Amino acid sequence: MNILVVGGGGREHAIIKKLSESSRVDKIFCTPGNGGISCYAECFDVAATDIDGVLALSKKLNPDMVVVAPDDPLVLGMVDVLNENGFKTFGPNKAAAIIEGSKVFSKDLMKKYNIPTAKYETFDNAEKAIAYIKEQNTYPTVVKADGLALGKGVVIALNEEEAVDAVNSIMQDKIFGESGSHIVIEEFLTGPEVSVLSFTDGKTVVPMISSMDHKRALDNDEGLNTGGMGTIAPNPYYTESVAKECMEKIFLPTINAMKNEGRTFKGCLYFGLMLTPNGPKVIEYNCRFGDPETQVVLPLLDTDILDIFEAIYDERLSDIDVKWKNESCACVILASGGYPKSYEKGKEISGLDDKGQADGAFVYHAGTKLKDGKFLTNGGRVLGVTATGKDLKTALDNAYTAAKGITFDKAHFRKDIGQRALKALK
Ligand code: AMP
Ligand code: GLY
Repeated sequence: MNILVVGGGGREHAIIKKLSESSRVDKIFCTPGNGGISCYAECFDVAATDIDGVLALSKKLNPDMVVVAPDDPLVLGMVDVLNENGFKTFGPNKAAAIIEGSKVFSKDLMKKYNIPTAKYETFDNAEKAIAYIKEQNTYPTVVKADGLALGKGVVIALNEEEAVDAVNSIMQDKIFGESGSHIVIEEFLTGPEVSVLSFTDGKTVVPMISSMDHKRALDNDEGLNTGGMGTIAPNPYYTESVAKECMEKIFLPTINAMKNEGRTFKGCLYFGLMLTPNGPKVIEYNCRFGDPETQVVLPLLDTDILDIFEAIYDERLSDIDVKWKNESCACVILASGGYPKSYEKGKEISGLDDKGQADGAFVYHAGTKLKDGKFLTNGGRVLGVTATGKDLKTALDNAYTAAKGITFDKAHFRKDIGQRALKALK
């Protein structure tokens, strides 16, 4: 089979690497891809959000399946357009992708179906939102833009001034554009965070191995929020009893709620969870594989991913026995100096072989470009240096040893990925 993957980051590189291990996959195409992906797939320069362009490319390449990986094309309805034109897809349709596309929708869904989440109110008016904040007078409080905001639409406000500022900048100054015309104000929760990606065909839900993201830019969870500076899997806080509780109270109720609403979800549904003193609660849903969670989850998958993707499309996921390796995996992100604020691009990367790889680890490319046989930086998050091991410590040692051998001007990586998880294991 020939497969087209839409997207161009580390997550897409991880999906492509896994697809390349399938005996049934002949050729992989990717748009727009990146330097590292181009060593594994033929890349095209159609943007991931360009629905007409991706449809035209699909008509030209005639792939047996199109995997739509990023949030924006899913929320915009790329899957619907591809299906209407006869292409098989992996990824939810527009009606289902709203679970990530609108926080007001997802919060109201959880309230309606009794799925545990932070208490909240929604607003389309800044004055009312501010009046509510003052009346609550409880800090920290959490202010969230309704729509997609490149993972930056969440403000944890430590006092009234910060909360009011957040409401004004999201609703009046529209720093996230129309994403901010509605907001959610919610209760601040505490506890370890767990990411659980799941395969679902809308009827059956199969959670993948759990993982832990590290969202802040600097060691000890300091600095700004980023798209994720590193991940580990499995997440030691996600014990068997927590998993069972999540399945009963969160995963199945969510899948059934979506079906009941006429929004059957088919694809990868990502549960961002917080294990609070009052049990696991949903922090957010994503309608797609997480980045960089995918980079540590898929290497542990022991079942042909194409079999899973096809079973989801055909709504027969319950026939598949999804197996996992009994190992750990760690991913350390090498970022451009300055990220997540402004940074320079075009720096030459040294320490990679001609396929963009390094000894002892697999290097997932997030923001790179291949030019005249050289890999250049081309984004904020540049590389995800990923290794497996018999346990978490071995996986981390392997990933860090490889990461230290790769350099570019002003490269930055966190030194403490997985440390909290290691402590939890003790
Ligand atoms: P999100 O973009 O929704 O993943 O949120 C970014 C981060 O903000 C999450 O990973 C949490 O660490 C934090 N966060 C979001 N909502 C809450 C909440 N209600 N209470 C505490 N922290 C939160
Ligand atoms: N790593 C978090 C996300 O993919 O949204």
